[in-house]
Amino acid sequence: MCGIIGYTGKNNAVPYLLQGLHKLEYRGYDSAGIALIDESGISVIKRKGKVSVLEEAVTEGFSATTGIGHTRWATHGEPSQLNAHPHLSENGMFAVVHNGIIENCDKIKSDLRKDGYSFLSDTDTEVISQLLEKNYKGDPLACLKETAASLEGSFAVAVIHRDFPGTILCAKKSSPLIVARGEEGFFVFSDTLAAQNRISSYYLLSDGELALVTKDKADFFSEDGKPISKVPHYISSSTASSDKGDFPHYMLKEIYEQPKALKDTLSAYIKDGDVIFPNFNPTEKELKAIDRIHLVACGSAYHAALCAKYIFTQLSSLDTSAHIASEFRYEKTVLSKNSLVVIISQSGETADSLAALLLAKAEGAKTLAIVNVKNSAIALKADYVIYTQAGAEISVATTKAYICQLAVLYMLAYFISDKTEYIHSRFFPDILSLPRLAEKELSQNENALSAAELLKNSEHIYFIGRNTDYALSMEGALKMKEISYIHCEAYPAGELKHGTISLIEKGTPVIAVCLREDIFKKTLSAIKEVKARGAYVIAITTDKLKSNLTDCDFVIASGSEQSDIFTPFVGAVPLQLMSYYTALKRGCDIDKPRNLAKSVTVE
Ligand code: F6R
Repeated sequence: MCGIIGYTGKNNAVPYLLQGLHKLEYRGYDSAGIALIDESGISVIKRKGKVSVLEEAVTEGFSATTGIGHTRWATHGEPSQLNAHPHLSENGMFAVVHNGIIENCDKIKSDLRKDGYSFLSDTDTEVISQLLEKNYKGDPLACLKETAASLEGSFAVAVIHRDFPGTILCAKKSSPLIVARGEEGFFVFSDTLAAQNRISSYYLLSDGELALVTKDKADFFSEDGKPISKVPHYISSSTASSDKGDFPHYMLKEIYEQPKALKDTLSAYIKDGDVIFPNFNPTEKELKAIDRIHLVACGSAYHAALCAKYIFTQLSSLDTSAHIASEFRYEKTVLSKNSLVVIISQSGETADSLAALLLAKAEGAKTLAIVNVKNSAIALKADYVIYTQAGAEISVATTKAYICQLAVLYMLAYFISDKTEYIHSRFFPDILSLPRLAEKELSQNENALSAAELLKNSEHIYFIGRNTDYALSMEGALKMKEISYIHCEAYPAGELKHGTISLIEKGTPVIAVCLREDIFKKTLSAIKEVKARGAYVIAITTDKLKSNLTDCDFVIASGSEQSDIFTPFVGAVPLQLMSYYTALKRGCDIDKPRNLAKSVTVE
């Protein structure tokens, strides 16, 4: 949440900062700003709204070769120009951009007020700039070290000082911050996407570390200010493109990238017909000792976990539960060294998931991260990691990362069941057909468009299903509500009659996910119950089952023949397309839905 960019080098900083902010906009987009520094001092330009609004405000005439920028997702204080970053200190000595939350902000603010400092904004970030100014005794790095030590909570900060044009200072705790080298100079940012194609190597700051970056070099320091050397990571040429290409939205592009993303994810771990996870290699004894699996995640990643819970239980007989990360922390779940806690996250940064991981580690459980972004906090902190190979996902609403999470979870369920000899699975060879299944479902585009026409004026939509069809309904409902702003609810089909059915009246849209043959008849009963009360039913099913659904008002049927276990891969695509087209017809900002950000780094 919130994106940071900094540049210091031989060229005008403005284009680098603006391009970087555009790339980071997925992290927050309610306001944006830049601060530039040269011999004449610091200039700050900021605006409420998207980066394009800031861009219009940045007129010609700036030639500074050092600057910092920020795109915001509001935590403290409403989205406004005043609350936008960068924040200047009282006398304009320091300018600061910040990602994270300063938990002791109120206390610092009141102490600073007693010292005569005043505050222009409602942000927690302004306390950092003011505290820097108060602590300054001539050495900006020593000042940042002292200031960072008194901050509680999470922060990635980039700082410039009026008397040191050409220098950017950085500090990090719990929020991501990266320093990178390129031909044109040095960059600091929250995500390498910010300067993709401009950098050759990068350094990941660890918690507590500080950096002093100039146009020629970057120096790193430990929490106590001692110089440290860091190992660079090199940019691989295979990094996925972060451009939209010919697609009108990233979301549609990413939906269409799913067959490839699945293929890359499966081929990374299936070798000679067996599953091999290079970074998850417990001994057979350790695997057999696992007595409980907890799948923990947020949002869509939680829905992948929920789906996988059914698959793990079916394949391995191991007691498996799915948890929402923000709840897991307070559930007092009993964990032991024989528990395997699997944290699932596209960004690898989600604060609730990270906190759940740390809790599980503290309780002595084994932890495994399933993560898309390489070297992200969750990936680095877990005992084991399996990367999904979805490539960069830019649209705030996840599609290809979600489907790859499912694929990894299926491979993991097989891996555990195979190694522990619980139930040797017969389904496994079919897993290689998943990219083809997803590819075929892209041809549901026209059907999804027609369904969107039927749904676009709805106020409420109910999604129903059982077992993995229910987990998919949850994901379908989330996708629809987050990008179209239509109120959606997902229910286990059998649960509807215990209350929610009272909301069904003539014309109420119900999306019935009924892909599984083994429980089809039970879902059909629920469909009949809502039809009898006037619901307008759109069924997501298969060619094989559709002849039983003549009562439904619209049917999207998959022509693929797959076992029940793989139906989530079949149903996900039309549900995503249906949400996409509904949002499109409603004129919504599909890639950047209101109030959201792609990586949620606050609890
Ligand atoms: C929904 C969506 C979110 C994320 C959730 C977890 O489309 O993208 O619900 O799934 O915020 O994010 P990660 O996977 O980065 O931990």
